[in-house]
Amino acid sequence: MAKNPTLHYTTPGLEPADAQRVVQLLQDRLFAANDLHLTLKHVHWNVVGPHFIAVHEMIDPQVETVRGFADDLAERIATLGGSPQGTPGSLVENRSWDDYSIGRAGTQEHLGALDVVYQGVITSYREGIKELDELDLVTQDMFIAQTEQLELFHWFVRAHLEDKGGNLATAEASSEQEAAKAAS
Ligand SMILES: [Fe+2]
Repeated sequence: MAKNPTLHYTTPGLEPADAQRVVQLLQDRLFAANDLHLTLKHVHWNVVGPHFIAVHEMIDPQVETVRGFADDLAERIATLGGSPQGTPGSLVENRSWDDYSIGRAGTQEHLGALDVVYQGVITSYREGIKELDELDLVTQDMFIAQTEQLELFHWFVRAHLEDKGGNLATAEASSEQEAAKAAS
């Protein structure tokens, strides 16, 4: 988790100690959103195969939406009196997950790996939503709205990995590499 200097002020009606924790949760999601929109662009550039254009074009609206999330999260940090950390160096230093591991690969391989990426991101959002229940409902509302969009995008990804019976090719996979292999 990123270093977190004392807030000099915060929004009215919020305890400074609570605001401090809310800023931490926002900062962790800001790292996740910045990482995700860059990773999605990387996938947009590196997919190959017969379904290239469908997947290539499906990804760009996700990039734009997640970039918008990063902006909203960062501005909420500033609103609460914090200082958003948006540099690549701070992201790499503070993130708790590994860099995306797939280069040029088929559409199914990338979609399999993205299934794992979205699982991680959405799980962390949902943990944040639970914690914010006691801390700040306004920030919780932002997390909920972003999670709804992320879950929709996750479904777009998973719909490519599903058979008619609703079984996911990636169901047993626990890493991007395993998921990419299972999906291809
Ligand atoms: Fe493009």
